[in-house]
Amino acid sequence: MNDFCLQTKGLNKVYHSVLKGDTVALKDINLDINKREFISIIGPSGCGKSTLLRILGCLDKPTSGEIIYQDGKEQEMGFVFQDSVLLPWKNVRENAGFPLVIKKDKTKESWDKLDDLLELSGLSDFKNSLPKELSGGMKQRVSIVRALSYDAPMLLMDEPFGALDAITRDHLNLELLKIWEMTKKTIIFVTHSIEEAVFLSDRVIVMSARPGQIKEIVEIDLERVRKESVRDTDKFQEYTKYLRGIIG
Ligand SMILES: Nc1ncnc2c1ncn2[C@@H]1O[C@H](COP(=O)(O)OP(=O)(O)O)[C@@H](O)[C@H]1O
Ligand SMILES: [Mg+2]
Repeated sequence: MNDFCLQTKGLNKVYHSVLKGDTVALKDINLDINKREFISIIGPSGCGKSTLLRILGCLDKPTSGEIIYQDGKEQEMGFVFQDSVLLPWKNVRENAGFPLVIKKDKTKESWDKLDDLLELSGLSDFKNSLPKELSGGMKQRVSIVRALSYDAPMLLMDEPFGALDAITRDHLNLELLKIWEMTKKTIIFVTHSIEEAVFLSDRVIVMSARPGQIKEIVEIDLERVRKESVRDTDKFQEYTKYLRGIIG
């Protein structure tokens, strides 16, 4: 398939600990992810969502099984975690552009693009602000722009809005979709919010409690471009109810 992004075959992950013995965090994970898909991973706490995301992002290795990437090699990926982890002494633009500095990318094109992303995220007026001057939602916006700054084709997000209030979260959901529509990234998004997963995703991967396995993959057939009002539709409610039933 020409839209193929990555595939996992029989991924297993066991953590060994002298004190606690072995923990089987992932068991037989088989996934196919297409380019430009928005995929959410949902499941009870401790079921292995972060472990799976880290393995997909090559930040950790599976105990067995394999990942096949589109071009046969690891892809560049951007990461966003629950904590924005900004450098306190650098301003918004310097934080967001930090990957470009690391890559020694001084091209006007890349920095102009960064400014466009800051604008798209409503951060233009705060380019010179320090992290301590920002709200939680704004800090997370900076970390999203930072992850997008070097134009990696994939974005991996681990409960990025988990620590934010509901109103800010809904707002950032919309912004993220806007960015996704414009940049055409593949996004893999871990969340514990069923509503968030339904609102954002093309498909929702439901994981079961330990050992973390894929329980079901639910296709979300809601209109794109998604609008806030979709949350009030019967179809949206049916998806959330169905997912709540599976997760239990
Ligand atoms: N580095 C680690 N060492 C040992 N056990 C770990 C480690 N990371 C995660 N685990 C265990 O693996 C399981 C899955 O963890 P995690 O992937 O963080 O779950 P989730 O993100 O779904 O809450 C949990 O039981 C956790 O305690
Ligand atoms: Mg986690």
